[in-house]
Amino acid sequence: MNKTVIITGGGSGLGLALAKQYSNEFNVCLIGRTESKLQEAVRTLSQNNNRVSYQVCDAANYEQVQTVLHAIFEKESVHLLINNAGTGVFEPLNALTKEDIELMVNTNVYGTIYPSQAVFPFFKKQGFGKVMNIISTAGLRGKVNESVYCATKFAVRGFTESLVKEWEGTGIFPTAVYMGGMDTPFWDETDHIKDRSRLKSPETVAKMIFDQDDNRSEIFIDR
Ligand SMILES: NC(=O)c1ccc[n+]([C@@H]2O[C@H](COP(=O)([O-])OP(=O)(O)OC[C@H]3O[C@@H](n4cnc5c(N)ncnc54)[C@H](OP(=O)(O)O)[C@@H]3O)[C@@H](O)[C@H]2O)c1
Repeated sequence: MNKTVIITGGGSGLGLALAKQYSNEFNVCLIGRTESKLQEAVRTLSQNNNRVSYQVCDAANYEQVQTVLHAIFEKESVHLLINNAGTGVFEPLNALTKEDIELMVNTNVYGTIYPSQAVFPFFKKQGFGKVMNIISTAGLRGKVNESVYCATKFAVRGFTESLVKEWEGTGIFPTAVYMGGMDTPFWDETDHIKDRSRLKSPETVAKMIFDQDDNRSEIFIDR
């Protein structure tokens, strides 16, 4: 059976570009909250030989994640989970609402921790597996008007670095991925980035990630 890659936030941006890249060699299962986006993504990706499917699931909802990931593992031989779903609200700290703060913490932190925890028993039983966490250069240093976004990405960095140590010798490989700006729908609702044409394309970044996906614990696209 062909191996499968699960990608959260696979309906747009980097997640969709990673899906395109990985679907050349693997089956791909996309996770996201908006069914129409996932359906469109599957339609565009289904032109090659590997199977592309989707599951509607909020990565920050513990129960949904457990149910959906268990169901995927029953049908597929999963070897890689890419925690890519993420969101950002870029304003001075005092301008962020409670909802903005909770959205970033829930999506970026819980939305990474819950799927990672859910796949662990399956990967442990298999004796192999990989968890790739899409972070950002915002997980490497603080930035103006990105305080809470950076806090969430630092959290995912600490989480990933800890798993590297905790899972040593299990055959399960966590990877932290750091990149700068990419021209994706992430920036549609904000003017935080003045000139999007200077950003890398998500396809370029997806290829760089794929080419370095060799069980290393860190991938630096930008520093
Ligand atoms: N764009 C950049 O410049 C940049 C730079 C460095 C790092 N990153 C990181 O790269 C990752 C991908 O971002 P992107 O640029 O590709 O943005 P994007 O196009 O907005 O993609 C984010 C995807 O995540 C999904 N998502 C959001 N919340 C979710 C949830 N709770 N559960 C499941 N899916 C959820 C969204 O779909 P639904 O809303 O339909 O669920 C969307 O498809 C993020 O982690 C981001 O922090 C981006």
